[in-house]
Amino acid sequence: MMRIIKTCIFDLDGVIVDTAKYHYMAWKETARELGFDFTENDNERLKGVSRMASLEILLSVGKIKLSDEEKEYQADKKNKYYQSLIAGMKPDEILHGAYEFIELVRNAGLKTALGSASKNAMTILNRLNLTQLFDAVIDGSQVINAKPNPEIFLKAAKALNMDVAQCIVFEDAQAGVDAAHAAGMKCVGIGSPDVLKNADLIVSGLDKMLLGMIEENF
Ligand code: BG6
Ligand code: MG
Repeated sequence: MMRIIKTCIFDLDGVIVDTAKYHYMAWKETARELGFDFTENDNERLKGVSRMASLEILLSVGKIKLSDEEKEYQADKKNKYYQSLIAGMKPDEILHGAYEFIELVRNAGLKTALGSASKNAMTILNRLNLTQLFDAVIDGSQVINAKPNPEIFLKAAKALNMDVAQCIVFEDAQAGVDAAHAAGMKCVGIGSPDVLKNADLIVSGLDKMLLGMIEENF
């Protein structure tokens, strides 16, 4: 299949902003209230995973069973705490090189989209003045199926009238890499090769991406 890349789709958490620490602080507090410890290592499993799926993983770590009503309550409480943490975010929490690379992509005439599982994505974009970097934004409030389901990325391609073969995805989580592949898109993994085993190209951060690498690799 001929691939001519015309669109870059970016995940938010862990690719553009360093929010994993806030999700972790909020989930750790949930665990503490429920009477168990939640480690940073356990938290790795939550990256890229939707809020309710994250809660299920957390509860399995603590070997705790809750009713659906209690789960809603805990997820909501965690989200309120998370929101209070991100309300104080500053532009220096934008990951190194992210803003610059997305601008570079746009200046080269490619389209850009955000494809984030988070229902708080718009809050973060607005808070950090990042909204104008994207031609389309698809977040957790616009999809039924969370990553690794390809729905988010397929919706982003559709919003920009692009074929999947014209899109590449930038992702820091395995669930996101799998979602990109399920959509029929190539994926640049942001992070370490130990975590992102089957990404098509892996870089440690967007500060290490050059425009030429898109042409060379895809
Ligand atoms: C993803 C994060 O981007 O969004 C996950 O990597 C998070 O850790 C998920 O659980 C959902 O976020 P939110 O803001 O809707 O709870
Ligand atoms: Mg992510």
